[in-house]
Amino acid sequence: MAILDRAIVRLLPAVPRLVVQKLSERYIAGAKLADAVAVVERLNAEGKMATIDVLGEEITNAEEAAGIVQAYQDVLAEVERRGLDSNVSVKLTALGLELGSDLCRDDLEILVGDAASRGNFVRIDMEDSSYHDGTLAIYRELREAGHENLGVVLQAYMRRAVADIRDLAELRPNVRLCKGIYIEPPAIAFRDFEAVRANYVKLLEELLDAGAYVGIATHDEWLVEQGLRIVAERGLDPEEYEFQMLLGVREDLGNRLVREGHRLRIYVPFGRHWYEYSLRRLQENPKVAGYIAADTFNRLLPGRNGRFSSRS
Ligand code: FDA
Repeated sequence: MAILDRAIVRLLPAVPRLVVQKLSERYIAGAKLADAVAVVERLNAEGKMATIDVLGEEITNAEEAAGIVQAYQDVLAEVERRGLDSNVSVKLTALGLELGSDLCRDDLEILVGDAASRGNFVRIDMEDSSYHDGTLAIYRELREAGHENLGVVLQAYMRRAVADIRDLAELRPNVRLCKGIYIEPPAIAFRDFEAVRANYVKLLEELLDAGAYVGIATHDEWLVEQGLRIVAERGLDPEEYEFQMLLGVREDLGNRLVREGHRLRIYVPFGRHWYEYSLRRLQENPKVAGYIAADTFNRLLPGRNGRFSSRS
């Protein structure tokens, strides 16, 4: 299946932009803030929370990073004005991590301060392993400076994740736990599907033992069941954890969680650069192209649902 996934990705630049747009409509709210707002209003009406991600082009200077901060501040203002149930998710490279950690920390502090003044919250997405130390250092610095409304992401495929939890435990962190989307070398990351699942379960237990608030971010039905088992065994109230999913992915599973009284937050990306962003992400991890192809195929031929699947 990996060969097919890579073939799909190689063909993508030749696919007309309009077709790509049609395919990505399920996964990306649109080009404008108003598009994201409309999606979040719908999700909130369905009993789901959201986290909004501004898709930026790769930035090359401090002014561009400041522009991203401003775009997020516009999101936070609109969320407050309309009384939406949504926080924001941000990538530190979009706030200038590659231009210097001081610049990035200062940009993030502006954003986190703005969010706090509106009673809102900022989640730092986790990017590839070259940014892990820098990201966790900035997270720690801002938490130690008293910014409570800041969360981070840990990836279950990373061998270091257990050690990261132990390092962060004293901060009682708010952590989104996901499998991890980037292609990492086996020396630092589990590559085997079942090994990643097993580590995910272990990390979830570790995080809860450490008193962390956890966003259980997965569409893997087996892991969702493990998450449900673990929170039930601990007698956690629904306010003490949440599930998280990407826009347009496994809505059936998400709806079930909401019906059963669990909190679910949907990741809602929007932005002018949705096309470049989508191509870049797909080129980074062709497996996602396989997921989308499988999903589209199953939708076009509903009778075959689930038979064309891209698991690993
Ligand atoms: P798995 O990969 O087994 O997928 C289970 C099923 O879900 C697939 O068979 C497919 O049907 C469907 N599916 C999963 N991903 C899909 C996609 N993108 N498009 C279409 N269908 C898909 N990663 C990271 O490295 N840093 C981060 O900050 C984040 N942030 C994040 C936020 C949220 C809310 C979620 C849900 C995920 C992330 N991720 C992430 C991505 C995450 O690491 C992981 O790659 C994906 O969630 C896929 O892993 P699953 O656990 O869903 O299992």
